[in-house]
Amino acid sequence: MNKKSSLYLLIVLIAMIVIPSNTSVISQRNNIGDTLPFQTSERINETSRFKNKYKRNKGNHARSENKRYSQNVIVPPFVSVTNPNHNYPIGLFLYGNASIEGACTASVINTFNGNIGLTAAHCLLDEDGNPWDLNFTSFSPGYDNNSNGPLGDILVVATAIPNNFIVNRRKYDYPLVRFEFNRGGATLQEYTGALGWRFDIGNNEPTSVYGYPSGNFEDCPNDNEHLCKWQGITEKYTDYYAINNLIAEDGVSGGPFISQYDANTNLGYVYALMRGVFIRTNVSFGSNWDEDIFIDLLLEITP
Ligand SMILES: *[C@@H]1O[C@H](CO)[C@@H](O)[C@H](O)[C@H]1NC(C)=O
Ligand SMILES: *[C@@H]1O[C@H](CO)[C@@H](O)[C@H](O)[C@H]1NC(C)=O
Ligand SMILES: *[C@@H]1O[C@H](CO)[C@@H](O)[C@H](O)[C@H]1NC(C)=O
Ligand SMILES: *[C@@H]1O[C@H](CO)[C@@H](O)[C@H](O)[C@H]1NC(C)=O
Ligand SMILES: *[C@@H]1O[C@H](CO)[C@@H](O)[C@H](O)[C@H]1NC(C)=O
Repeated sequence: MNKKSSLYLLIVLIAMIVIPSNTSVISQRNNIGDTLPFQTSERINETSRFKNKYKRNKGNHARSENKRYSQNVIVPPFVSVTNPNHNYPIGLFLYGNASIEGACTASVINTFNGNIGLTAAHCLLDEDGNPWDLNFTSFSPGYDNNSNGPLGDILVVATAIPNNFIVNRRKYDYPLVRFEFNRGGATLQEYTGALGWRFDIGNNEPTSVYGYPSGNFEDCPNDNEHLCKWQGITEKYTDYYAINNLIAEDGVSGGPFISQYDANTNLGYVYALMRGVFIRTNVSFGSNWDEDIFIDLLLEITP
């Protein structure tokens, strides 16, 4: 067990045991106007490209929606052990079945387990909410320019999706996945490095979003095959973080919203995931995570 993992575990444990719950939720409105991302009737395009996989939750989890943990757990990024100068925690995520294939973006996050990542729920479930067959799911961290990353394709063996995703796909689109990876005893994050994660990001956050888009990412072929970056300021709403004038189409679903991105390490703190675009207003957005649900998912997916 390394120090960062231990620290993380400790933080979570302390948070679970010691800190009393606090139900206050930050809710900031801003100049994007209430008529834009909040118009619930507005059509959105989910940002996966069609070409999948997911494993059924192990049993029914009667997750309590009551606040039980702390507010504001912060887990730092994890630097690759095998190659500290080269972190590549973000990759192409493919899903589907024998006849179709979809593409999304996934990323490795710093966990005690070391093989845990994030993507978008609609990359794990079809439109009817049925899980895609995980045998057709793969993750290639470091994928770029039509080429697999250094580790090739990695399988997904488990998923944990917020129960409420079924009732509100926009608000609860932040599932965790567990990768099947063990090379010489090393975990995936020891190879790729891993993003830190946090829940305390406010309005107007300088942010980098990565993924494999089509759409209108700048300086990007927008062909689903290149790892591209959007950089700017996100606006926080009760249920979402929103990005104006960004058409995040196809392939960038699940792409991490990263705070304090460090270009030297390719690491930072993920706090949201690309979910889709409001097609009338060109506002792209990602669900605002509920910390307790997130921690529950992490406990659920960690063997
Ligand atoms: C693949 O999934 C699509 C969409 O759910 C479905 O229409 C099609 O029948 C599936 N194909 C196979 C071979 O399972
Ligand atoms: C996935 O692949 C494994 C190993 O080949 C097989 O045992 C299993 O039945 C497959 N699952 C599905 C849902 O096809
Ligand atoms: C992408 O790959 C092609 C073909 O291998 C190569 O010609 C091109 O220079 C590469 N582009 C980038 C941006 O790396
Ligand atoms: C949304 O998706 C539809 C169907 O794929 C496509 O025709 C349309 O151009 C998309 N809208 C935007 C704003 O990208
Ligand atoms: C959305 O983007 C499209 C394509 O770039 C553009 O034609 C349209 O005017 C934009 N709409 C808004 C409301 O900005």
